[in-house]
Amino acid sequence: MGEQVTPGDVTATAPARSTTGYAVAADALAVQYEQVTFDEVHRDVQELLPAAPARILDVGAGTGRDAAALAARGYRVVAAEPTAELRAHGQRIHGDRAVDWVDDALPDLPLHRRPGRFDAVFATAVWMYLDAEERRKATARIVALLVPGGRFFVNLRHGPVPEGRRMFDVSAAETVRLARTHGLRAVHRGERADLHGRADVRWSRLVFESA
Ligand SMILES: C[S@@+](CC[C@H](N)C(=O)[O-])C[C@H]1O[C@@H](n2cnc3c(N)ncnc32)[C@H](O)[C@@H]1O
Repeated sequence: MGEQVTPGDVTATAPARSTTGYAVAADALAVQYEQVTFDEVHRDVQELLPAAPARILDVGAGTGRDAAALAARGYRVVAAEPTAELRAHGQRIHGDRAVDWVDDALPDLPLHRRPGRFDAVFATAVWMYLDAEERRKATARIVALLVPGGRFFVNLRHGPVPEGRRMFDVSAAETVRLARTHGLRAVHRGERADLHGRADVRWSRLVFESA
């Protein structure tokens, strides 16, 4: 379920790893990611944020747009980003913010030097780059990283696979089912158009709460 890729986009020559394609495109992507704001991306779920100074993990943080905005609001933020080029852009653009950057990736996400749990975990535009087995492992890992009552914020991209990258057609319904099997309850479900105006791209927004 959910492993059907968008027709014509992923082929036998498709890159195998979730991070493939990011390093080479990092300069352009850094500009793109920063064209929208945390408020625009997460407007619909702001009321579900824990109170500052809660501890928040942003996994697949990209340039740290969201991590920096959360830090500016008084949260203690760890930004996990496996693409060195994007981490470097993030540290350049948001170096004035108290974001704790770490080179780490789902599904294992060991966070060796950042022990302890989080009040919230964000995975914005990341989840659909993981294959089915990775998503299962990643869900278990995120549950283990959340405090009781902690929240998991997910944005799923739908539409054509970006050129040079790997992406799966992951539905909101499938993600809700997977989360439920790991004890996560959906507390928000929504859909929205693409903030960059791409007509063939749309987004699902999910927020889960741990038991
Ligand atoms: C589309 S970008 C989104 C970046 C940022 N969250 C945002 O909304 O601007 C996807 C990010 O996920 C990262 N990524 C890819 N595979 C990942 C993995 N297995 N674990 C964590 N991050 C990953 C990429 O390096 C990239 O920074």
